[in-house]
Formats: sequence, structure tokens, C-alpha cells
Amino acid sequence: MGRLVIVSNRAPSVDGANDSGGLVVALKDALARNGGLWIGCAPEQTDTPAASLVFHHRPEFDIALFELEPDLYRDYYLGYSNSVLWPALHGRVDLIDVQSRYATAYRKVVRRLARLIADEVSADDMIWVHDYHLIPLAHELKALGVMSRIGFFLHVPLPDLQTFKAIPDWQDLAGCLAEYDLVGVQTQRDLGHMINIFRHILRGELRANGNMGIDGREVVIGCFPISIDVRGFRRLAEEGSVNVPPPALPRLIGVDRLDYSKGLPQRLAGYETFLGRYPGFHNKVGLLQIAPPTRDDVEAYRAIRSELEQLAGRINGRFGTVDWTPVQYIHRALPRDELAVLFRLSRVGLVTPLFDGMNLVAKEYVAAQDQNDPGVLVLSQFAGAAEEMSQALIVNPHDPQDVAEAIRTALEMPLGERVERHRALYVHLEKHDIAHWSSTFLKRLGSVEKIGPEWLALFPELQVRAKAG
Ligand code: G6P
Repeated sequence: MGRLVIVSNRAPSVDGANDSGGLVVALKDALARNGGLWIGCAPEQTDTPAASLVFHHRPEFDIALFELEPDLYRDYYLGYSNSVLWPALHGRVDLIDVQSRYATAYRKVVRRLARLIADEVSADDMIWVHDYHLIPLAHELKALGVMSRIGFFLHVPLPDLQTFKAIPDWQDLAGCLAEYDLVGVQTQRDLGHMINIFRHILRGELRANGNMGIDGREVVIGCFPISIDVRGFRRLAEEGSVNVPPPALPRLIGVDRLDYSKGLPQRLAGYETFLGRYPGFHNKVGLLQIAPPTRDDVEAYRAIRSELEQLAGRINGRFGTVDWTPVQYIHRALPRDELAVLFRLSRVGLVTPLFDGMNLVAKEYVAAQDQNDPGVLVLSQFAGAAEEMSQALIVNPHDPQDVAEAIRTALEMPLGERVERHRALYVHLEKHDIAHWSSTFLKRLGSVEKIGPEWLALFPELQVRAKAG
């Protein structure tokens, strides 16, 4: 049996220091079983990148890093990935920054990476590519004759057809997506968008088995909602909370990377409306917003930072008193175990993105709660998580009145209802945790009919470099 080969822009750290949570937890076992390999971008750029992958051995799996020059990396990562694809995929076409050198760098990086991978894999390895940074990888690998099964999972949303067409290379990009053997997205919403994109751009046909026929081949598609290590996160919250007293006032909490897709100004506007409408809550509640910086070099991210600082200042100026600060704002990342405790000790979790693939904070907040006295999740209808978490208070993040009412309902919700809603959410999450997500995806990828020699016969011009399995 072949290996599992994971490919993502960010690789786990070589010393395992940032393993907790996320993909590493999800994939460690599967990687360890098959002598797996994780390929990702080296964290530091260099003017003299190595001509091959740089290997590091870890007990459970190997890590292979590809090195990039600083300029190339900037145009590929900050440029095409995060100034073209990220805004487009999140429906913010107004923020797309089209520069031809970005697209060139993106294709160059993926092509270079494909060559490095082609030298490394054999036909019976299974390759799992993650996220928007690497969409054309299957296309490049297949052009090099790689015969492994290749799956792709998009962690961010896939927007509707019209929004997708705002990406300058939309036809090309849709074609690249369709070259994977399996394409997975987070939600039914995104699956519907994918079917539409394949239908209209590539004349794909939806087959009775739910897959798409495109250009005479079958592309397996599916919805695989990502999750967290539910029990692990709950343990962190329980153990960490033992010696921490609850906050003096009931607390609302928000934890988000400082990204324009997270709807932070809209959230603060909702909180401001709540305070304006219900003075009875003055001095009786506080909002803790943790928003660590991200992609600081992109202008749109700098703009959201100053907007948020102004808003928090305005609310504190308008409602604050000598002994009460309505908004506490922390602009840096906190350790995971500390977050787990903060979630458990907060009466309301505010997760109100404008558009989000899934949003794992929603799941972490629920996992961290005390089941006998749980807090209430206020969740945006535009977070992928809303498809699975209907027992949360679902809101329209654009409507400050709606957010304000949900905050009040959450703060006044009787214990019985809180327990009931939480139990339903938790039971679902426990069953559909991160291990369930990765094993469902891998099972599906493993069952994809393997590309046979007949495929090669269609492309005699290709120089086949795949090693025998
Ligand atoms: C978010 C998205 C992921 C994405 C990641 C990249 O977490 O949900 O899909 O891969 O951002 O973040 P980075 O810090 O690497 O730009």
C-alpha cells in the first residue's frame, strides 16, 4: 500500500511545536499508519532555494519543505493567494487586487512544486492537496504523468458562479479544480456552487451517483464539513478552568483572525445597538474581542484594523464609566489552552462572519462549555457551521438589530433551554469530529477508481515519470 502525502502551503513545524489542534491532529494517525509525508512551504524564504524538497524526519511522519525566493513567495502568497483568491472566494470582489505578476508567481510556484513532488511519489501513493494556495497542483502533476490519486479540499467557501467569475483566470481555475479525482468542500451551499461552476464553465453533467461527468471523466465531488478534536478541546477547557474564577460580569467573547471576512465591525455595531437599546445591561456585561493580526502586509487588512480600533474606542467612549469598560480588545494571539478556558467562562460566544467556509471557533466554543451550565452560541447564517449548528441563535451579521436581539436573548436564556440547545450541538459535534472528517475524506479518495493505463493511452505525448507502485 502506498503512502498518504499531504500537501499544503503551511507545513507543521519540524519540531512538532504547533501541532495542537487543526489538521495535524486530524491527519497524524493516518500519516503514521502509512509512513506518510507532509509537503509544505518552508517558513523562511531564501535567495538560493534548494533544487529539491528538504526532508525532516519526525517520529510519526516526514516533513518535506520547498523553499522559495522572497519576491516569488510574496507574489504567490500575499499576492495571488491572499489579494486575489481570498477576497474573491469570500465574496469581496471589491477588494481583489489584480496584478499580472501575482498570477505568474502563483502558477510558477505550483509548477515548481509539482516537479518536486513528481520526483517523490509513486503511483500507489495517495495525494491530498489542501486549500486555495495550490488549486492547479493536480493539473501540473498530471501533466508530468503522475498517476497517484489526487484529492483536494477547499477550506474556504466556494462562492456562486457570478462571484467566481470575478477571478481573472476563472475558466482556467475551474478546469484545474476539475482535474482532481475528488474535490471536497465544507458545506452543501458550496457543493451547490461547485456543481453550478462545473456545469456552466466546463459543461459538466451531474450524474445519478452525485459526481460530475466532465470531458469524459468522472470527478468525484462531496461535502465534508471540517471539525475539531472535540473531546481534546473540552478536556483543555475543563482542566484549565479548575482554578480560574469566572469573570466578575457575564462575558461575551469573540475570537477571530483580524480578517475582513469575519464581520468584526458589524459585530461591534450589533453590540453597540444592544447597549443603546438596553441600558439595563450597562455595567452588567462585557465583550472580550480577541483579534490576532494576520497578513498585515495587505492593505485591506491594515484598513480593518484601524476601523476596529476606532469602533471599540467609540463604544467605550460612549457607554464606558470609571469602573466599566464595555469592550476589551486584544490584538494578539493567545495560547489554545487559555482560549479554551476563556470560552468556558463566557456566557455568550459571538461568531458572526460575513462569509466563512466553516468557522471552527463556533465548534470550539460549544466543545468548551460546562454541560450543566453552558453558554449560548450566536452564529452567523453565513458561517458554514450554521448548516450543522441550527440550535445556536442564528443571526444575520449585517443587521445590527438582529445581532442586538440575539445578544439579549442569549443573556436572558433560562438554564433549561441553554442545556437543551447545548446538548444537541455537542452530541452532533462529538460524532462529527476532526477524525470523522479526515477518515471520511480519505475513504472516499481511496475508493476513487484508480487511473489506469487506458488514461495514459489518451496522452501518448506525455512522458510518464510515475514510478511503479
Ligand atoms: C484560514 C483559512 C484556511 C487558510 C488559512 C491560511 O484559517 O480558513 O483555509 O488555509 O486561513 O492562513 P495563513 O495564516 O496561512 O494565511
